[in-house]
Amino acid sequence: MQPDDPRTIWEDVPAGDLILRIRRPPSAEDLIDEQEFAHDERLPYWAEVWPSARVLCGVLARMDLAGCSVIELGAGIGTGAMVAATRGATALATDWYPEAVGFARWNARNLGLHMDAEVMDWRDPPPAVLDRAPFDLIVGADILYEGRNGVALGALIPALCGPATRVIIADPRRPDARPFVDAMQRAGWTHRRDDLPVPGRIDETGPIVHVHSFTPPPGHHHKPVVI
Ligand SMILES: C[S@@+](CC[C@H](N)C(=O)[O-])C[C@H]1O[C@@H](n2cnc3c(N)ncnc32)[C@H](O)[C@@H]1O
Repeated sequence: MQPDDPRTIWEDVPAGDLILRIRRPPSAEDLIDEQEFAHDERLPYWAEVWPSARVLCGVLARMDLAGCSVIELGAGIGTGAMVAATRGATALATDWYPEAVGFARWNARNLGLHMDAEVMDWRDPPPAVLDRAPFDLIVGADILYEGRNGVALGALIPALCGPATRVIIADPRRPDARPFVDAMQRAGWTHRRDDLPVPGRIDETGPIVHVHSFTPPPGHHHKPVVI
């Protein structure tokens, strides 16, 4: 589905003192493609703005990001990167679905925001993204929902970091987040967890989202974190 499809819907996404009015497909489920799933167990979760994204947007809305480079991983529609752009960041939204990147670009343009968007599979990051590293801030919302995601992100995130990079991942307490957080700590990354309430609609994951913040260990040399 493309952003100009008449079946798309508008959604107001709260982000601190902002509201982002974005356009998205009416349902992720309707976009399921059996062939794609058979190929890579890929599901079109990009088409929704998940509770963790609303929490991440609130966190970013309270930050001053003037002059910072920010990348959003598994961005879907890219609301985190959009809020970062409103706070002065040079923001890049990434997702492995080209359709998601199309919606992210369309929505940022529609909101008058300067934000880039690129297709990126965490397991095979393109030079166009790697060349922009290190980023000052790496963000993601609800990206640790499968064990394989943590494995891919443990390899990718160190490659996108410099010594002063901060990583913020909002997670709705998914069981598969735990091994990722444990492995980052074992590898010497500092870790802090804030438990924040979900603004607006709550789903079956409940009213609280964990916001994990990490910074690399001293002497960080892009070493992959093995989960
Ligand atoms: C649950 S959705 C969250 C979307 C958005 N961050 C939000 O919270 O509204 C997970 C996102 O991760 C993306 N994703 C999953 N595996 C990926 C991979 N290997 N590389 C890049 N993106 C991936 C999906 O396409 C999807 O947009």
